[in-house]
Order: sequence, then C-alpha cells, then structure tokens
Amino acid sequence: MSNPIPDSIERVILDEATIEKRVEELATQISKDYAGMHNEDFILVGVLKGSFIFLADLARRLTVPHRVDFIALSSYADKAETTGSVRLIMDTRADMAGRHVLIVEDILDTGYTLDYLYRLFGARKPASLRTCTLLTKPDMRKIEVPVDYLGFEIPNVWVVGYGLDFADRFRTLPYIASLKPRVYEK
Ligand code: XMP
Ligand code: MG
Repeated sequence: MSNPIPDSIERVILDEATIEKRVEELATQISKDYAGMHNEDFILVGVLKGSFIFLADLARRLTVPHRVDFIALSSYADKAETTGSVRLIMDTRADMAGRHVLIVEDILDTGYTLDYLYRLFGARKPASLRTCTLLTKPDMRKIEVPVDYLGFEIPNVWVVGYGLDFADRFRTLPYIASLKPRVYEK
C-alpha cells in the first residue's frame, strides 16, 4: 500500500495514521454535538476542491444522519499566496434556511475564505452555522474567524496532500507534506 514519496516532497508533516486518528476524534465529537438531528436538518458543506478527501473521511465516520453539499471557491489562482479576494466558482444546492450547517474546510490561512463563507451563509438564515477545519496556520491570520472543530495547527509552510494541492498537483497523497522550494520556483 505504501507508495514511494515523490521527489518534490520535502517533509511529511502529518502521516496517514495521525490524520486518520484525528478525523475519527472529530467525527466522534461532531456526532455527539449533533445527535438527535434529523437527516433533513444537518448539512455538511465541503469547500472545493481542497476539502474533498477530508470531507469524505469525516462524513463516513459520522454516526448522525446528514446531507453533503459543496461550494467551490478560489482565491489562489495556482500560486502559493493569497490574492485576498475570494471568488465564488460554484454555489451550494441545498436550502439552508432553518437547517444546521457545518462548513468543512481543508485549511485556515488568512481567514478571508471563512469570513466570506460566514457572511454568505449567515445571510441564508441557517438554524446554526459552524466550521470544521482540518488544519490551521495561526501565524498567517489577517482576519479573526471562529472555528468550532479543528484538526491540527501547522507551521507557516505551504502544504500538499490529503486534498491539498500546489497548482492542482499532489492532492491524492495520503499524508500532508511540505514541498521542496524548487517546486515553487519552477
Ligand atoms: P484563507 O487565506 O482564505 O485560505 O484562510 C484558505 C484557503 O487557502 C488555501 N490554502 C492552502 N492550500 N496548501 C494548500 O493546498 C496550503 O498550505 C494552503 N494554505 C491555504 C486553501 O484552499 C484554503 O481553503
Ligand atoms: Mg480550500
């Protein structure tokens, strides 16, 4: 099962077993907090593309009924640096009014994306609005945004794998890793 580590990878920051254990813990906590919810009332909203693997693993471990929806946003345009402006690529489908919405994000960096989502979804009058993010880079924050469920704090380096990418590459690596500087410099 174990694939060779690509030459572009500098260091594995979170290995597969570590991620799996934490996702299980998050799912247990979320299942407890949302217990008793009717299927119609609990919606997980994955932020594409980065959250697709995290959301798939998390959702399959939940013991409470839920729906899955997605929103696609973009702010990085193939670079490892934020542009500060968030662009809506594809909106959600489910009606959020009166329902419990949990945003599922891959990583919290400047906070612009989550701030955008809180304003966008908040205006749709959900019964509750919370966030679960796998990773956070606390040193990078430009806007303070609340997070209800958090996987790991990581240092301020660009990371790939487990859904995260650099220019759409490396998303399906099973671990989270940093890249060798020469990969950016190309
Ligand atoms: P902000 O700055 O809005 O960023 O909080 C959130 C979004 O930026 C992307 N992001 C990353 N993607 N490796 C990635 O693959 C990273 O290290 C990284 N840092 C930020 C990500 O899409 C996230 O949703
Ligand atoms: Mg993202």
